[in-house]
Amino acid sequence: MCGIVGYAGSRPALGIVLDGLRRLEYRGYDSAGVAVVCGDELLTEKRAGKLANLEKALSERSSSETTDSGTVLGIGDGVTGIGHTRWATHGGPTDRNAHPHVARDGRVAVIHNGIIENFAKLRAELEADGVQFTSDTDTECAAHLLSAALTKLRTSGEPEGPQLLAAAMRAVCQRLEGAFTLLAVDASLPGTVVGARRNSPLVVGRGTGENYLASDVSAFIEHTREAVELGQDQVVLITGDTIEISDFAGQPATGKDFHIDWDASAAEKGGHEYFMLKEIAEQPQAIADTLLGRLTDSGEIMLDEVRLSDQDLRDVDKVFIVACGTAYHSGLVAKYAIEHWTRIPCEVELASEFRYRDPVLDRSTLVVAISQSGETMDTLMALRHAKAQKARVLAICNTNGSTIPRESDAVLYTHGGPEIAVASTKAFLTQLVACYLIGLHLAQVRGNLYADEAGAIVEQLLKTPDKIRELLAGIEPVRQLARELKAAPTVLFIGRHVGYPVALEGALKLKELAYMHAEGFAAGELKHGPIALIDQGTPVVCVVPSPAGRGMLHDKIVSNIQEVRARGARTIVIAEEGDTAVLPYADHVIYVPRTPTLLAPLMTTIPLQVFACEIAAARGHDVDQPRNLAKSVTVE
Ligand code: F6R
Repeated sequence: MCGIVGYAGSRPALGIVLDGLRRLEYRGYDSAGVAVVCGDELLTEKRAGKLANLEKALSERSSSETTDSGTVLGIGDGVTGIGHTRWATHGGPTDRNAHPHVARDGRVAVIHNGIIENFAKLRAELEADGVQFTSDTDTECAAHLLSAALTKLRTSGEPEGPQLLAAAMRAVCQRLEGAFTLLAVDASLPGTVVGARRNSPLVVGRGTGENYLASDVSAFIEHTREAVELGQDQVVLITGDTIEISDFAGQPATGKDFHIDWDASAAEKGGHEYFMLKEIAEQPQAIADTLLGRLTDSGEIMLDEVRLSDQDLRDVDKVFIVACGTAYHSGLVAKYAIEHWTRIPCEVELASEFRYRDPVLDRSTLVVAISQSGETMDTLMALRHAKAQKARVLAICNTNGSTIPRESDAVLYTHGGPEIAVASTKAFLTQLVACYLIGLHLAQVRGNLYADEAGAIVEQLLKTPDKIRELLAGIEPVRQLARELKAAPTVLFIGRHVGYPVALEGALKLKELAYMHAEGFAAGELKHGPIALIDQGTPVVCVVPSPAGRGMLHDKIVSNIQEVRARGARTIVIAEEGDTAVLPYADHVIYVPRTPTLLAPLMTTIPLQVFACEIAAARGHDVDQPRNLAKSVTVE
């Protein structure tokens, strides 16, 4: 939530910061702004709305400006800068609430991601000291506090130099409560950017004669692939040649160096109209990459990187999955697989609810925290609660070095590559694959499944990338149907067993992208109330399991399709190829390749992703950046 970029070096900072913001815009797009130190002056520009509004304002500025000191400079000339793209929390999405926030001395600019929880108290204190606030944000407090801390250090005789900025930032951080990543520049200290992080992401990019700070590596990947991961409660000071890290108390600290092994093109659209379509198309590769290196030739699951011993896994007597949104839906699917294969009870809980209901956890509970970004605050807080109760936490995450895997006892990375579109697609499928691997591994270690049984399931998993390619090659009718239904007032989704979470996911995608009323139901629940929603022509998407699958599942949902059709619904049936039993009751059939029931969500989700994307486009919405949302939700 909110994207931030900082640059210190010898090239003009403005273009580098704006390019970085473009790549981070998925984190929030309510407003954007930049601050550049030019000579020893601070120049800023900020605008409500998308980055394009800021770029327009910048292009309308004259290329040179007369500053207070009389020097003629342009904002494009400075070689030190910070930039911000905002997802509003405190204060509406207006020009005045856009970041950066500048202290009353006009020399210090601050940008922020997170929420300063004690901001009201700090603001009252600052106002009592005569500070006049110019915004409704919590961030502005940090700008005034930083400026005051710098003045205090200077008047106490501290030597002038970059260290002053780090010391002032540490003093500010000690006064703040909540979650924050802060970046700041001081016009009196050109060539220096300071950053601080608590509970919000910040990585350093290590260049040659230049260094970067950003919410994530995509902001600087075109300039460097060498990065440094910061720990919790750390301050980092960058100049063109140095990176210095300390803790909030001023003790020197070290970050963890890492190499970024994907390149800038992975964060571009690659010929697709939207990032979402590109990411849907990347799903076969993402699944193959997530399986890669995790299976032995003899069919065993090899998850050494999980860092939990076999004995730890044998001791598990309960699994809790915590996650949000789409990741939560992957957990709902995982429950069916994990319980079936391991016979261990598995509960799935919305991360935002988990810690408030005092769940029963102990040393033998395995908590699986699923998060694409690894920064979702609700999930992070749930995992901290689990750890405080002595449970072991295993993260499933797509973002190397992010907070959730770092704070977990173990991690299984999904190798989906960067997901830029706000709506999650390939992250969902790779989360499913990771959950299947964990379920199979647990079952093997505990002796619930023999290697050959697990091997047969893995063989099916290995076939899914090709099956998805086949499915995507014939997806055009789904797009056409979506365009036909673009004006529908509501769309309902029904499913049973693992088809139920798929129905929930289909409805979520449609809500978030097309801004339409959409709901997912367990098909058997319809008759207990929701069936009253069905009117003449109401589209109902029915996720049908394989006829070869378990028990009466298939027949039961075919009956549910008949029930809704009898009440006027227009039925859109997602069924396995060759399933002719659905034909008499389907207004539209979308066939997916044959796959065992537990793995079927890897197929049945895909038409629903395409359906939502196409309806949103047909309704004229921004598919990659739907309104009111952000990719990484770092507030509770
Ligand atoms: C929906 C979507 C969100 C995320 C949720 C969790 O398309 O993307 O519902 O799944 O915000 O995000 P992560 O996985 O980053 O924790």
